[in-house]
Formats: sequence, C-alpha cells, structure tokens
Amino acid sequence: MTRTALVTGGSRGIGAAISIALKKAGYNVAANYAGNDEAARKFTDETGIKTYKWSVADYDACAAGIKTVEEDLGPVEVLVNNAGITRDAPFHKMTPQQWREVVDTNLSGVFNMTHPLWNGMRERKFGRVITISSINGQKGQFAQANYSAAKAGDLGFTKALAQEGARAGITVNAICPGYIATDMVMAVPEKVRESIIAQIPVGRLGESDEIARCVVFLASDEAGFITGSTITANGGQYFA
Ligand code: CAA
Repeated sequence: MTRTALVTGGSRGIGAAISIALKKAGYNVAANYAGNDEAARKFTDETGIKTYKWSVADYDACAAGIKTVEEDLGPVEVLVNNAGITRDAPFHKMTPQQWREVVDTNLSGVFNMTHPLWNGMRERKFGRVITISSINGQKGQFAQANYSAAKAGDLGFTKALAQEGARAGITVNAICPGYIATDMVMAVPEKVRESIIAQIPVGRLGESDEIARCVVFLASDEAGFITGSTITANGGQYFA
C-alpha cells in the first residue's frame, strides 16, 4: 500500500531532502511551500514531486491546501511539519512583528497543519505526525527568543498530542536538528557561523539528508512503538 506524505516547506533545505527521501522510500509525496515559486518549480522539475503553495500560518489556507492534496493523492497519512522561518534579533531590538511572524509559522503553523488532518488519521487508525523542532528549542539561542520559544512549544505540542493519538494508531514525534548546512544557517553572519561550528564536537555542520533519514524512520510502520519522543541530531553540540 502506498502511503501519502505531506511535507511543509518541502521544496527547499531540510524539507526538500525529506520530500526526496520519502519518495525514495516509496511514499506519494506532496511538498508544500509558501513563497519561492522559482525554487518550487525547479524542485518539481528535478524530482517529479508536486508542490502546493500556501502559508502554514493561515489555518483556512492549510485546510484548503490539504483538501487539494488529498483530492490529488489520497488521504495524508504522514505529515511532516518542517516549514520554519527565522527573524533573529537581540530581544531589546525584537519587534512585535518579528515575534508574531515566527510564532505564527513555527508554532501555530504546526497546529494549523495537524488539526485539519487529525480526525481523518483517527478514523483510519493510522497516522504519523513528525515535527522538525530545533536544537535552539532545547537550549535557547542568543537573538532567537521568538524562534526558541516556538520550537520549544513544538516539543510540548508533540508530547501532549502523542498521548491523544496513541490509541488511534497515530504517533507524534519531533526531531531537533542542530546546525545544518541550509540557506537558513548560511544566512547567519560568517563569523558567528564559524564560532557555532567550533561548538559542534563532530566538527562540521549537519547535512539535510541526515535529518531526512530520521524522518523516514519515524514515518515507517515499524516505528509504531515510538511516540512523544524527540530525536536529537546535532553532532554532539547539546545533549538534551
Ligand atoms: N552570545 C552572546 N553575545 C552575542 C552572541 C551570542 N551568541 N551573538 C552576538 N552577541 C553579541 C555581539 O557580540 C554584540 O555585542 P556588543 O554589542 O557588545 O558588540 C551584540 O550581541 C549584538 O549586537 P549587534 O548590534 O551586532 O546585533 P544585531 O542587531 O546586528 O544582531 C544578530 C546580530 C542577529 C544577533 C546576528 O549576530 C545573528 O544573526 N546571530 C546568529 C543568531 C543565530 O545563531 N541564529 C540561528 C540561526 S540558524 C537556525 O535558527 C536554524 C536552527 O534551528 C539551528
């Protein structure tokens, strides 16, 4: 039986690696994206994975987008909440807008995507909800009060919902990547990035594929006993 997976922010960075890995593992994959049409077009051309545009920060757009995906590919059984943004600023400079944008996408976005899918997963007695949190939700990060709060919120969401999903065959798990070689990390000033790499015991940034492999494992039928858990993949930078 071919299962359908939906990956938010699935056409770039870690999300693109997840979409590709799930496709290779035999899933029908839909990749959501919010803004970058050109990257999405290129991604579809290269992978054959269809992309769908909406913002995870908008509940109604999520419900409508999910409906379209399900009409195209069938019921979504694996949801990967990967979409995320940064608006880094020291707190004394952080604006209410920077706070809201990050919380709306990185935390409320997880609610907005999971909630419309939840009843279907309950009825079918199977589901996988996998949320990409962050090392910075575990340890906090200078200039990321917004991001760290949202990513820590994702872990609370995961642990609460795991308890509700367990009897319905739905597992709910999180992955906390450390610093991965993506556009998001490359946008950090070079000097800061060098100092971050110096704090990673394995001596390098992570690769998106290293996170994608964790997702494929958690999505599998064989991972049915694992729920409410967090896989930490950060090169030894922080032991949660
Ligand atoms: N710890 C302590 N102090 C720090 C610091 C840190 N990690 N980073 C910066 N500072 C200090 C600076 O040295 C500077 O001090 P002085 O005023 O004494 O010189 C002060 O904080 C910053 O002042 P600026 O006026 O330069 O700050 P700014 O408004 O220009 O902001 C910044 C700069 C946004 C903080 C920038 O340095 C930055 O982007 N830092 C990286 C933050 C970061 O690591 N973000 C993670 C992004 S990747 C990601 O989020 C993915 C993931 O999940 C892992």
